[in-house]
Amino acid sequence: MSFKSKTNIRAVILAAGKGTRMKSQKPKVLHEIFSKPLVGRVVEAIENISKEDEIKSVVVVGHGADEVEKYLSKYKNVTCVLQKEQLGTGHAVSMALDELKNFKGTVIIACGDTPLLKSATLKKMCEYHEEHNADVTVMSAVFENPFGYGRIVRAQDGSVEAIVEQKDANDEQKTIKEVNTGVYCLKWESVKNSFKELKNNNSQGEYYLTDIISWARQKKKKALSFVIEDASETLGINSRYQLAQATEILKTQKLKELMDEGVTIIDPQSTSISPETTIGEDTIIYPNTYINGENKIGRNCKIGPFSHFRGNVEVGDCSKIGNFVELKNAVIGSHTNVSHLSYVGDASLGSNVNIGAGTIFANYNSITKEKKKSTLANGVSVGSNAVIVAPVELEENVFVGAGSVITKDARKDSLVLSRSAQKEYPQWVEKQKNLLNKKGEE
Ligand code: UD1
Ligand code: CA
Repeated sequence: MSFKSKTNIRAVILAAGKGTRMKSQKPKVLHEIFSKPLVGRVVEAIENISKEDEIKSVVVVGHGADEVEKYLSKYKNVTCVLQKEQLGTGHAVSMALDELKNFKGTVIIACGDTPLLKSATLKKMCEYHEEHNADVTVMSAVFENPFGYGRIVRAQDGSVEAIVEQKDANDEQKTIKEVNTGVYCLKWESVKNSFKELKNNNSQGEYYLTDIISWARQKKKKALSFVIEDASETLGINSRYQLAQATEILKTQKLKELMDEGVTIIDPQSTSISPETTIGEDTIIYPNTYINGENKIGRNCKIGPFSHFRGNVEVGDCSKIGNFVELKNAVIGSHTNVSHLSYVGDASLGSNVNIGAGTIFANYNSITKEKKKSTLANGVSVGSNAVIVAPVELEENVFVGAGSVITKDARKDSLVLSRSAQKEYPQWVEKQKNLLNKKGEE
């Protein structure tokens, strides 16, 4: 019998703050990067620290609590606790005390508005914290301009003595460039009692989480800092501009990663690909392509220019998705072409399918609000400007005539047409002209 070592980690995510600078009706942590709310990105970064074990998170909600809670209900390992009044970061964490009452192990503390934090970095930090048997480890960064951040004050021996907020710092402390990023690891059983002892006798009248360091020091406990290599990971979102910056950073990382994996991206400037998309080797992404949500694209495909993926799209190998094609909730086989000006939604397309220009999959009934699915088997060929009205199933090699509106299923190898027959009126132009001349003579 083998015993797998269990990671014993929980997390508390602080997300009660207002986010005034977003100037928004929406709670700050629900603003999105590639269609995923900031807090969802933080929750997932924590969940992905371990592949084997499930890591539970407590999210402290306040402003817009109902909306945030509603969004988070899809994560089964997340519990929300309410902080009615925002009395400070230390007070916020204390809202989670009940949830963590009997827990022993490492508690990660992070903020709901830092969407760039990576699982790998958090994992490293937890390992560092546990290997050094620390009671508190704070993630720090070195900034040329540390203004506004809490400063890390170190003792002679290099251990961390205190964190001093900008507003409480003296002139000497203000020169310190190592700052608190707001991410911590706590040995829970060792420090959980500190929260009852936090005081708010500081310039902001708040209960500071950062005071846990000096508390630990007084109790002869071990406080360390873990200096993060890439400080951009800790970027907190306070404004729409920072939201755009974070989006840009994630996008650039993703494109670089894909190129390293053998994907050609012709014009990275005009190409956006969500972190939740995978793409196989030798696929070429042409300019002005926007790939959002979760998608899986195979090898040797050609995507774009001007393609738009809206999520939940799978494309097999050697397929082509061309210009002004919009895809959503679709599975597309290999060697299949959707080359121009089409919409494919709620559909499953086999291999060697050809979708002519301007084809639309009509999947939505705006009265019933229902979405229905269409299935096209291998070898189906749809002529230009067809409408496939879901639900419809076309068996293998069905041939749909251009301009058809397809509302019924069709059997293997048949031709289906649903357009009015063409009529011809010979000499029609001449007759019209004669009529006109007659009028003139009258
Ligand atoms: C905090 C740290 C500071 C650090 C900085 C990094 C404290 C006292 N200071 O300062 O050392 O350099 O983060 O970004 O912790 N929140 C709540 N409830 C509250 C107060 C805050 O949930 O009552 C949440 C906020 O929504 C936010 C996070 O906690 O997500 C941080 O709070 P914020 O007020 O931004 O702290 P800073 O002043 O930036
Ligand atoms: Ca902040």
